[in-house]
Amino acid sequence: MKPKLEFVNHILREIKEKDLHRQLRYGHIRESHITIGAKKLINLCSNDYLGLQGNKIEAGQLQSSSRLVSGNDVSFRRLEKKLAAHKSQKASLVFPTGYMANLGVISALVGKKDLILSDELNHASIIDACKMTGAKVQVYKHNDMEDLAKKINTHNKMRKFVITEGIFSMDGDYANLKQMTEITEKNNAILILDDAHGDFAVGDDGRGTANLFGVDKKIDAYVSSLSKALGSFGGYAAAHDSIIDLCINRSKSFIYTSALPSFLVKMSLDRLEQDRKTRQIALSKNTALLSSGLKKIGYDIKSPTHIIPIIIGKEKKTLDFGRYLFECGVFAQPIRYPTVPKNSARIRVSVTAWISKKQIEHTLSVFEKAGKKFKIF
Ligand SMILES: Cc1ncc(COP(=O)(O)O)c(C=O)c1O
Repeated sequence: MKPKLEFVNHILREIKEKDLHRQLRYGHIRESHITIGAKKLINLCSNDYLGLQGNKIEAGQLQSSSRLVSGNDVSFRRLEKKLAAHKSQKASLVFPTGYMANLGVISALVGKKDLILSDELNHASIIDACKMTGAKVQVYKHNDMEDLAKKINTHNKMRKFVITEGIFSMDGDYANLKQMTEITEKNNAILILDDAHGDFAVGDDGRGTANLFGVDKKIDAYVSSLSKALGSFGGYAAAHDSIIDLCINRSKSFIYTSALPSFLVKMSLDRLEQDRKTRQIALSKNTALLSSGLKKIGYDIKSPTHIIPIIIGKEKKTLDFGRYLFECGVFAQPIRYPTVPKNSARIRVSVTAWISKKQIEHTLSVFEKAGKKFKIF
């Protein structure tokens, strides 16, 4: 008889052979730095885009129950009211994470007989949610509105849902929301926007990507994370109150799980009440400095946002590139398949309001040396 767990080692061996093996690294984050072992590095991997994590909050009570049982602390009411207003929607609902918010919203709204149109670069939580619904899923080419318009015209008797990210998490580009809202309106389709990376970071008062493009009123349901630019923890949906009511009644990732601890709800409230404007300005200044500096060195930078991918291609070369950055005091992780397509491995730089001009200059000098060493240009 074969050893029972041989298949596990076999799968791991295959992952390693393709340079796709991932290992956990322990680090200690403090403001713009991460310390790993004895090494202090500039952290270019944080989603704390505005640098709000500095203000610590005391841990407190846990609810020890789901929200529909005894876990619905009164602080949820205040936070959900504020989040609904932040998105100019009637209601909102907090989930334990953004991942669970996607699972919850999409599975509550979409049924087996429906059609989903999903961008090919959508986040894993959207892909999983689409699978859960049992609906027919048509994947359209990334941000390609012609392809979306063509695919939405098929299956005309079905109810249609279009799902996209606002700022794509691994490419840093904006969804083509203006054209998308025209297409969804024309086809009577429901538009769900996952704005995990745009929320609180772009738009008027951090209202997000749809606000930036002037189409906030045309989004049917928002999904977002409280764990990125807000510098807190959790996920939420904002939509018409009937949609939120349906989520409370049908989202398994809301009903059958423990409530987000109330001290984290209070942390989000605390962050929402803070002045975030100066940090939003610092974020956009840092983004402009870093991305124009990288372009000047010779990198092909297409992203207009605080997520700047540097596409290297091969997995092994990208790992070596990342290791070199690490040696030079810059922490920017290589991203590989299956997070991004094969042979499009990249260094994903995420800019934050934390980093100083001096740190940006150091980062640029390291990228210049790395670019030459690895013959990127
Ligand atoms: C586009 C997108 N949606 C959802 C999520 C999940 O958010 P959370 O970290 O709150 O679970 C992420 C996180 O990486 C994301 O990038």
